[in-house]
Amino acid sequence: MGKNYNIAVIPGDGTGPEVSDEALKVLKAAGNRFGFGFNFTNYDLGGNRYLTTGEILPDSAVEELRGYDSILLGAIGHPDVKPGILEKGILLKLRFAFDQYINLRPVKLFPGVDTPLKDKGPEDIDYTVVRENSGGAYTGCGGNLMIGTPHEVATQEMIYTRHQVERALRYSFDLVRRRHSKDNPWRGLKAEDIAAGKIGQLTLCGKTNVLTFVFGLWERAFHEIAPEYPDVKIDYCHVDATTMWMVKNPEWFDVIVTENLFGDIITDLGAMTQGGMGIAAGGNINPNGVSMFEPIGGSAPKYTGKNVINPLAAICAGSMMLETLGEIEAAQAIENAVMDVTGTKMKSMAAGRMGFSTQEVGDLVAERV
Ligand code: IPM
Ligand code: MN
Repeated sequence: MGKNYNIAVIPGDGTGPEVSDEALKVLKAAGNRFGFGFNFTNYDLGGNRYLTTGEILPDSAVEELRGYDSILLGAIGHPDVKPGILEKGILLKLRFAFDQYINLRPVKLFPGVDTPLKDKGPEDIDYTVVRENSGGAYTGCGGNLMIGTPHEVATQEMIYTRHQVERALRYSFDLVRRRHSKDNPWRGLKAEDIAAGKIGQLTLCGKTNVLTFVFGLWERAFHEIAPEYPDVKIDYCHVDATTMWMVKNPEWFDVIVTENLFGDIITDLGAMTQGGMGIAAGGNINPNGVSMFEPIGGSAPKYTGKNVINPLAAICAGSMMLETLGEIEAAQAIENAVMDVTGTKMKSMAAGRMGFSTQEVGDLVAERV
């Protein structure tokens, strides 16, 4: 008998509960097939709880969550709650509380999924963005002075320590190796790539031409660490140019590492090129602690309770969770099942146009797992 994982589930707002139900269904199927189990514990956090009790994220909940193997999040965001309250009070607070310093966002176009990029297919769009998730402008350093006067001052500083930069870079170099290692062939190089001499590549995305202090630090650390990874080709792109190449030549990328706010922005672009919010998943990872996995999309209030929202992003978040827990084969089985469903069954990734209900899509994936 395999392991039993203790997973905290935060279904959250809007369509969050519907998509997380499907993710749990698929995770259970994977556990049955590969011989491990789950104890799922629900945490009622989000807009409804806030509106009825005034509570956002009690400290006691944070302490409890610390004891789980992982956290799966549906969606946070409520139309009746002012923007920022739940995002900062739940999502960002958890990222910081558990020092989830990596935000991992794969940009992978699955078979059968439409991309707005003309003439690009699954062989072109398959890279991963490592968004540094603990520092930068998200640090919260700054403030306002003389509010309401014509001389009001506002600052919001992009702050990085060498330690933060170094751990994000090391994670990224290691990730390149993992993507191309023989022990993990499902993300390894294809035989023809190897024959063509292709090796894994890490692109640092920055702005060394203007933000010379912060990206000076990133660049120095990047070049100092690189010699430890002679098998990884290193590459650099300014953030503005990165957005250009993500559209024009996404096949150039393997792993991109970048600071927090740049990563926030470029991963929304990446998500659109892989078929949109219905399919894009991400992980807030502390490699030595409690990580949290989520569909990148929001709570989609307009589709709530209609059984029409696409659950694949949440299902893929579940697959990422298993990969991080070390259940590589099971993670692969889920991703393969998703690819079969997008490639052979679904009409569209858009809510209401999938050709199936939310639950039916979950069933299709679970059957294949
Ligand atoms: C994301 C979101 C969050 C962020 C918001 C909701 C706080 O945009 O996960 O990308 O800015 O990180
Ligand atoms: Mn974002």
